[in-house]
Amino acid sequence: MSNTLNIALACASLLAILAGAPNRSSAEDAPGGKQLYMTRTCIACHGKDGAKAIQVYPNLAGLDKGYLYAEMKDIASGARVSGPDARGYPRTQAMKDVMGIVTDDELKTIAAWLSENPPPPVKPGDPAKVTEGEEAYAKSGCVGCHGKDGVKPISGYPMIGGQKKEYLALQIKEIRDGVRANGRSRMMTAMVKRVTDPQIDAIAEYLSQINRAASK
Ligand code: HEC
Ligand code: HEC
Repeated sequence: MSNTLNIALACASLLAILAGAPNRSSAEDAPGGKQLYMTRTCIACHGKDGAKAIQVYPNLAGLDKGYLYAEMKDIASGARVSGPDARGYPRTQAMKDVMGIVTDDELKTIAAWLSENPPPPVKPGDPAKVTEGEEAYAKSGCVGCHGKDGVKPISGYPMIGGQKKEYLALQIKEIRDGVRANGRSRMMTAMVKRVTDPQIDAIAEYLSQINRAASK
């Protein structure tokens, strides 16, 4: 074989790896969820095992796998868009940009792996604000869809207890205002129209300190 051909073949296989190599020879070669999560750049934004990292980036560990998968698809397709970050780009944009390297099967594998990781540890909130948030959560009808403490939602709806405070507040406001309108978000929009920003901040304070493991 000529050197040029060797180099061409090496480049082709490298490209196949970068493209997510959908035509693997056997199931044994297929990387697991954890490996995919690390190599497909998810870890850079969502932290080790889908917990921690930046406040406005959601914790993914322990969420429902069907919900996780649906949201990944919606962010990748542009159906789910967020409000702007400090530079004026939607917060969803940088993730959308990397989703081209991940195949559909890989997304399912990652979602299944993330759903089995333990929920991240939580920090106590400001006690007065937590009480205010708990009342607002009960009064605003959230419990009917997201369950007690936000941990026992209707099947396929997101678990929101123990999620990060800043992320929660942004999502509730953006779903209320119609900025995020993907999937079943509209089920919620009409219900939360009258919930004010200060009430939402208190609800986020309350939900973010819920210990999912203890609340079951
Ligand atoms: C450049 C940073 C970045 C990368 C890389 C990234 N994400 Fe995200 N992801 C985000 C941000 C930011 C959001 C929240 C957007 C918003 O505020 O609406 C998000 C949202 C999500 C959500 C929705 C969570 C929920 O509770 O609704 C899932 C699931 C997710 N990402 C999975 C992944 C996976 C899997 C990968 C790797 C294939 C990945 N992300 C790569 C930044 C990133
Ligand atoms: C009628 C049902 C319903 C009600 C009532 C409702 N929600 Fe939701 N909520 C949903 C659904 C469905 C989604 C997921 C939408 C999607 O992406 O498909 C959602 C998404 C969310 C999210 C984003 C979760 C994430 O991981 O990105 C938060 C936070 C949230 N709701 C909080 C609340 C709060 C707080 C209330 C009360 C003020 C509330 N919801 C009331 C159905 C509801």
